[in-house]
Amino acid sequence: MERTFLMLKPDAVQRGLIGEIIGRFEKKGFILVGLKMMQVDRDLAEEHYKEHKGKSFFEPTVQYIMSSPVVAMVWQGKNVVSLAREMMGATNPANANPGSIRGAYAMDISRNVIHGSDSVESAEREIAIYFKLEEIVNYTKAGSEWLSE
Ligand code: TYD
Ligand code: MG
Repeated sequence: MERTFLMLKPDAVQRGLIGEIIGRFEKKGFILVGLKMMQVDRDLAEEHYKEHKGKSFFEPTVQYIMSSPVVAMVWQGKNVVSLAREMMGATNPANANPGSIRGAYAMDISRNVIHGSDSVESAEREIAIYFKLEEIVNYTKAGSEWLSE
């Protein structure tokens, strides 16, 4: 089953949005298989955003995700990588659909509340840098027979 890495960024934690945002993914029917609060250090932050190294927003973005605790998560489900990105909305909340998470809860690209892997390959890489194998659980969720055949 497909998995993605989602992270509630420091602003989501500080603004009390953890429950709201996790609830959206739960209600959609995705399964939470990994969850931890953590403080991201510089090595991890730079590894996370290494595709953006050299760009003007790299250092501010690294600073931002190190600035306060985050919630790191692994979610599972059919097409969860692309569907989670749809649910998050555009990178710049100013352009995000108001029904999306960034559209509903954020104003500024540099405080856009959530990270989500942009492909299955990125998801595998990001899950591996944030989680040990034994921190990810396997289970069948009650009611899953009502979500798909
Ligand atoms: P990116 O991977 O392009 O976006 P996404 O988070 O939607 O995958 O960029 C990573 C983060 O860098 C983005 O969430 C916010 C920050 N960022 C800026 O601050 N300014 C920018 O112009 C861009 C493109 C990103
Ligand atoms: Mg990205």
